[in-house]
Amino acid sequence: MSTYTIDTATSRATPSPAPMKRLTAPAIMARKGKAPVVALTAYTMRTAQLLDPHCDFLLVGDSLGQVIYGLPSTIPVTLEMMCAHGAAVVRGSWHALVAVDMPFGSYEESPEQAFRNAARVLKETGAAAVKLEGGEAMAETVAFLVKRGIPVIGHVGLTPQAVNTLGGYRARGRDEAEAAKVMADAKAIAQAGCFALVIEGVMEEIAADVTKAVACPTIGIGASAQCDGQILVTEDMLGLFERTPRFVKRYGDLAAEIGKAAEAYAAEVTARTFPTEEQIYRPKS
Ligand code: KIV
Repeated sequence: MSTYTIDTATSRATPSPAPMKRLTAPAIMARKGKAPVVALTAYTMRTAQLLDPHCDFLLVGDSLGQVIYGLPSTIPVTLEMMCAHGAAVVRGSWHALVAVDMPFGSYEESPEQAFRNAARVLKETGAAAVKLEGGEAMAETVAFLVKRGIPVIGHVGLTPQAVNTLGGYRARGRDEAEAAKVMADAKAIAQAGCFALVIEGVMEEIAADVTKAVACPTIGIGASAQCDGQILVTEDMLGLFERTPRFVKRYGDLAAEIGKAAEAYAAEVTARTFPTEEQIYRPKS
């Protein structure tokens, strides 16, 4: 199924525009060297509805571990969480391709394990692609999935699931060896057949060089304006958190807006000025 409509009779959803054909993995792949690819993360139906008209793909990122569940990293995120949120985002979108992150531990063991779990993600969510982290070590797995009908987005550079081996979240490629490793990882994953490649937290020149070196669109996050597209964590760019990484630009101030609304509500409840006649029920006369 390529398009979804919202049943407005049974949900709080606002009516969605007439369903269009979603963007496909080949269509995104074909954007290399053309109009930049616009991507954001989404974890819920309503956020997906709001972002969908503006995005080429929505990523159900495993960053939901920290953003939604308050976990310390992406390591504890489960396949069940990814499937539940993936399905919600598919239900809330009709235009963008939806890709779901494979969580830590669900794909690294073998290509067969990766296929089994990625197939489950596509079946249970209706999403059209998965994303997985890793470079040369994951190339065989990416090729295995792609050959068997599972479009894959790669992810190299700063790979948050490797926080324990990387020793933190610092940007990658400050020395020559690290820069060469990022390039080798990117080439290996691109040659394995991914249709897009996230490059996270690397020196600007490396992202630009990788973009020239690979056949698929590169999607930067903390990378370079020369990437073929950009992605941010939506809650970061909306200003929902006080602290964000250097590479985040805030396009909104939702934390302040929510705080103001909650303060106004609390004041009216305390003063018994809410609810008013407009919000209460009376018998029909
Ligand atoms: O999990 C995530 O949100 C991501 C993006 C930041 C690329 O991987």
